[in-house]
Amino acid sequence: MCGIVGYIGPRDVTHFLLEGLHRLEYRGYDSAGVAVSSLGGIEIRKREGRVSRLAALLEEQPVSGLAGIGHTRWATHGVPSDTNSHPHTGGNGEVVLVHNGVIENYDSLRTQLQGLGYVFRTETDTEAIAHLVAHHLGEQIKLGSDINKDTCLKAVTLTLGRLKGTYGLAVLFRELPDLIIAARNGSPLVVGVGKGEYFVASDASPLVGFTDQVVYLDDHELAVITADNMDLQHRETGERAPSVQTLDQVSTDTDLGDFEHYMLKEIYEQPHTIENALRGRLDDDEATAKFGGLNLSAQELRRIDRIVLTACGTSWHAGLVGEYMLEEFARVPVEVEYASELRYRNPPMSDRTMVFAITQSGETADTLAAMRECKRKGLPTLAICNTVGSTIAREADGGVYLHAGPEIGVASTKAFTSQVTVLALLSLFFGRMRNLSYQAGKRFIYNLKSMPEVITKTLEVHEKVKHVAEKYAHANNFLYLGRLYNFPVALEGALKLKEISYIHAEGYPAAEMKHGPIALVDENTPSVFIVPKSGIYSKVISNLEEVKARKGPVIAIACEGDEKIAKLADDVIFVPDVEEYLQPLVTAVPLQLLSYHIALHRGCNVDRPRNLAKSVTVE
Ligand code: AGP
Repeated sequence: MCGIVGYIGPRDVTHFLLEGLHRLEYRGYDSAGVAVSSLGGIEIRKREGRVSRLAALLEEQPVSGLAGIGHTRWATHGVPSDTNSHPHTGGNGEVVLVHNGVIENYDSLRTQLQGLGYVFRTETDTEAIAHLVAHHLGEQIKLGSDINKDTCLKAVTLTLGRLKGTYGLAVLFRELPDLIIAARNGSPLVVGVGKGEYFVASDASPLVGFTDQVVYLDDHELAVITADNMDLQHRETGERAPSVQTLDQVSTDTDLGDFEHYMLKEIYEQPHTIENALRGRLDDDEATAKFGGLNLSAQELRRIDRIVLTACGTSWHAGLVGEYMLEEFARVPVEVEYASELRYRNPPMSDRTMVFAITQSGETADTLAAMRECKRKGLPTLAICNTVGSTIAREADGGVYLHAGPEIGVASTKAFTSQVTVLALLSLFFGRMRNLSYQAGKRFIYNLKSMPEVITKTLEVHEKVKHVAEKYAHANNFLYLGRLYNFPVALEGALKLKEISYIHAEGYPAAEMKHGPIALVDENTPSVFIVPKSGIYSKVISNLEEVKARKGPVIAIACEGDEKIAKLADDVIFVPDVEEYLQPLVTAVPLQLLSYHIALHRGCNVDRPRNLAKSVTVE
């Protein structure tokens, strides 16, 4: 997590740093800070809390200079505080840096450096890096070298060789105010190339509007940047020619419009984002789906006899829906793996196994590691990703973009429905390659095409959901229960509630409840039953009755016109009736709204929930 930025060139340095930090705030918002270097030295401004607090500080105490670095923090080592905020200073202030990542051996480095007389002022792992760079710089000076670009580079390179863990780094040197050294290992970093200026950022979003020419750093690479030059180095193999790419399709559509929160805006974007996920991917004549970026021949695709979907959090829930769809329509065995587990497991996978990493951000550390592990074993490894140019999108063998636009709210909403839409398209595609009939393909397409309109209609539940939220906002425990395609939706509904309202919630397959969770049911524990019309509707109703028999309040998500449910449940939210495999797209919507309104009632920060960050770039 954490976002870093840097700038060197003729512009107002803090303007870019602040704008960039605003755009990267999704990566963490525990604190924010900048350091700006000029001939007079390096000035630091930092403050606990949001970037807006840093902006206010900079109004009171402005800084200007030749180069600068900035940071927005998601705390890993040390509580959120002014002191633990980045940038951090090494030695006696001769080195100042910002860091995204985790240094696993910081404790032993700290002890060694303290032994050498370095004074630690913070609880962070990052401070050890700053002192180490200062130390290696000092060692060279003791041997008679000057402080110049080469000695600074050597100091950073020697430091990196002693670090265990992950880092995206940007370093300033007091004696060389027109130099930034940036380095990457495991945490993303991109350099924007302008005319007589360079930009550094954790992802490409801060660069939009400033430059569209970018160089993505690979692991173990360093960029040595002055206003008119950049040298790219591999830490071990030496110099490499930077390959400058043109940035396209990165959207910074982060305007809230008339909405009070990004989460609500993104919930309302879903008819449009589902349409975007479908656009250009339906082949009516062949009754199938088509993709531009799978990068595998029809023959290679036909050989696939197993699919592994790997992801974290909400993206993992979308994967579960995908498992059900792919197995039903494509008849391919599918496994859905937590990326954090898969990266350290070694399940047998033949060369006929295809892997999809599902990720909104394209930067989730565990998903990236799991994907790399699969690639290492020679498996075709593709991404279902929203963020263009993200590390996972770039490293995958191919993939499918969601085209959902930036998702800012920490609670993922539109990305989930877009992921499910793309997985539905893949089910159709693989199904038609195997045993799905032309007529069935046609029907699938017809159903998919209707979804944007169906979701628009579903959003009409908003007022009803508001009332339900008000009634149950005081509860401290919730159960979310659904079966088959609605089991992953139950998990997703519970996750949404937990992350933004801090209420304990558990998602379960409805019938599994009898094997333990039913003990939680009492008059204070609402159960949200997702019970649209399906082949096992009556079975879910039996599960619902079991809860009612134990005095548990029931909120049902059911199909319009279902009179039976109205008699059984305490509250019903009616949604349009669609085919079972597309129900997750519909039933997820009222659950997103329910968590949103419950969180509002409880006075929670909906878009920036405590302890979380949008993009989990640490393990
Ligand atoms: C969902 O609301 C969460 N914020 C979280 O579970 C998220 O889905 C997860 O961290 C995965 O992120 P990704 O899709 O960007 O990889």
